[in-house]
Amino acid sequence: MNGQTILVTGGTGYIGSHACVELLTAGYQVVVVDNLSNSKVEPLRRLEQITGKTLQFYEADIRDKKALTEIFDREPIGAVMHFAGLKAVGESCRQPLSYYHNNVYGTMVLAEAMAEANVKQLVFSSSATVYGESTSVQYVEDFPLGAINPYGRSKLMIEEILRDLSAADAINGAQSPWKIALLRYFNPIGAHESGLIGEDPNGIPNNLMPYVSQVAIGKLAQLSVFGDDYPTRDGTGVRDYIHVVDLVKGHIKALEALQGEKFKSGGCKAYNLGTGRGYSVLDIIKTFEAVTGRKVNYKIGPRRAGDLPEYFANAELAYKELGWKAEKNLDDMVADTWNWQCKNPQGYV
Ligand code: NAD
Ligand code: WQD
Repeated sequence: MNGQTILVTGGTGYIGSHACVELLTAGYQVVVVDNLSNSKVEPLRRLEQITGKTLQFYEADIRDKKALTEIFDREPIGAVMHFAGLKAVGESCRQPLSYYHNNVYGTMVLAEAMAEANVKQLVFSSSATVYGESTSVQYVEDFPLGAINPYGRSKLMIEEILRDLSAADAINGAQSPWKIALLRYFNPIGAHESGLIGEDPNGIPNNLMPYVSQVAIGKLAQLSVFGDDYPTRDGTGVRDYIHVVDLVKGHIKALEALQGEKFKSGGCKAYNLGTGRGYSVLDIIKTFEAVTGRKVNYKIGPRRAGDLPEYFANAELAYKELGWKAEKNLDDMVADTWNWQCKNPQGYV
């Protein structure tokens, strides 16, 4: 609803900052809560520059109930987009408790504060990692779930908690029931086309696209391709890469759906956000070289533990029920990543 105030948790992060741009552009008011554990405030200044609008920022942890309650008291919040959380798979295996504490407990505290303030519309950042073993590489929302690392399990636990909350409202006949969209992202990459905001990983990137772009600009010497003996068309891993701006547009569509006929009586529903196409690691390298004219120095290395050979989204449900589909292609994703990388070689400094 135009003019409504949306609380964006994790709004200074990679995806949250792009969501703020879309929300402000669409006429929403935005309140950001972030503890800056994996981000800086600089993206807020820049996104205000992009949109010509301002937002309200609170430096706070979503596990701090008192701080959240004060924010809900002070701001006329109508709905929440919840991006705050830790997201590195390898780190989650080394520090599982911080992942469960930040992600699972953090979401529980947020949900409590929301319920107390009677704000029961929530768009949640889930992940394709919640899918379990499957016979098909094209994931559909009703496939069996079952994550394989603490990060993925934290997302799956949150999904289950949110489903239980919604089910409880149905049992109790709640007057204003929870309306929840669980958005399962595939592989978000790219940056805003202005090059003012983008992904600013700490230290050496874990993910493919920021790694490739740091090799291309000369910050890193060489990319290691994690295996070329997978049962895929060129032997390297295949994923569904989605432009971050398409992804956050899906959040606006989800928010609108929560306020429409479909969720009139409440509910908690999962939607895949992907393009429905898979690209291999070698496809990414070739496209990167073609779009930027730079060489990507790489070598074939061993497989990375825990990686699946191939998966991509079936994104038909989001199209049918939210009226959303991804519009940008791989060339756009690469061009915008490169524009951001060239304009911000050291990230947000
Ligand atoms: P990010 O790290 O850039 O953003 C997350 C933000 O949350 C950061 O600004 C961080 O400071 C903040 N934060 C973390 N814990 C917090 C806490 N306890 N209280 C307040 N703020 C806190 O990550 P991102 O890539 O923008 O991801 C956003 C969300 O999307 C995450 O929940 C992530 O798990 C999910 N997700 C990301 C990807 C991806 O590949 N980037 C894929 C699927 C799902
Ligand atoms: C993509 C492909 C690698 C780096 C991760 C999380 C997932 C989600 C998105 C949050 C794979 C290969 C990578 C490198 C490589 N995040 N690769 N060399 O693993 O699909 O998903 O981010 O929810 O939970 O697991 O993304 O970008 O790390 O890898 O060859 O240096 O690139 O093997 O095939 P992934 P990624």
